Amino acid sequence: DWTPGNVIADQVAAIRAQVGDARAICGLSGGVDSAVAAALVQRAIGDQLTCVFVDHGLLRAGEAEQVERDFVDATGVHLMVVDARERFLTALAGISDPEQKRKIIGREFIRVFEAAARDLVAQAGEDGADVRFLVQGTLYPDVVESGGGEGAANIKSHHNVGGLPEDLEFELVEPLRTLFKDEVRAVGLELGVPEEIVWRQPFPGPGLGIRIVGEVTADRLDVLRAADAIAREELTRAGLDRDIWQCPVVLLADVRSVGVQGDGRTYGHPVVLRPVSSEDAMTADWTRVPYDVLATISTRITNEVAEVNRVVLDVTSKPPGTIEWE
Ligand code: XMP
Repeated sequence: DWTPGNVIADQVAAIRAQVGDARAICGLSGGVDSAVAAALVQRAIGDQLTCVFVDHGLLRAGEAEQVERDFVDATGVHLMVVDARERFLTALAGISDPEQKRKIIGREFIRVFEAAARDLVAQAGEDGADVRFLVQGTLYPDVVESGGGEGAANIKSHHNVGGLPEDLEFELVEPLRTLFKDEVRAVGLELGVPEEIVWRQPFPGPGLGIRIVGEVTADRLDVLRAADAIAREELTRAGLDRDIWQCPVVLLADVRSVGVQGDGRTYGHPVVLRPVSSEDAMTADWTRVPYDVLATISTRITNEVAEVNRVVLDVTSKPPGTIEWE
């Protein structure tokens, strides 16, 4: 019988058999897959697991807190938080090209994660050699997509964490390898992972970094976070979360247009709403969000976010448009 409870029981036994008395680390991204994988491994081996959360400053409003506070409260995982916000901003300074942003964010992420892993091993002293396992939230579709081989996740299989002795290559623990997304959600709920994380819509690894068209700066991130929070709040209030696959909010930071707010002329930036419906993100259609909901979002964003004086709707399907703007 497929039940979340049975999956958990089977996986807990398998993880214990694989890991034994050794220790494991797991990177948390704020997304559902890594959270459920971590919760499952925590259930199996408790304090032998340490989770690492790299705060790159590119998450949406409230998401870092959901990991650092709500997830920890709900699961009891031992969490190491690395505040890398300045580091990412510095690395991204002056960069507007989307692929370059992705490369930089990916590279910095690996470096910070590796440094955290090294710290962890060093802190463990003599026992450091026991930090042998890396937990990844690889799902069944990822396994299939990568040709049925090792996981397709960001950090490659048997990834040799730079700077560690050669014999400290990590072995992978992938407890979600046989599961589809909806099954992962069911398992997560059964494990007590907070609903906000379990039902989170897809969010790209490079985060808000690829939703600012133009250079990424701290001020622009604040503007986008504020606009995005309003859009999410109103779409949720309207009960549209399950109809919408995801709704990127994009700040056109290099575009300005004239507006009028109160008594004055403004020269602000547009944000784009990009609500899409999709099965798998390979193709998508723009979601027909009711006009009154769009009106509320537009009014609130232009009233509450001073730098934004125009809200526009993206009515392009995929193809030809991608879901993200970068
Ligand atoms: P596009 O924009 O290609 O996006 O239609 C398809 C899906 O992938 C997500 N996406 C990413 N996810 N790293 C990720 O982890 C990325 O660089 C990236 N780019 C796009 C996007 O949010 C959508 O769900």
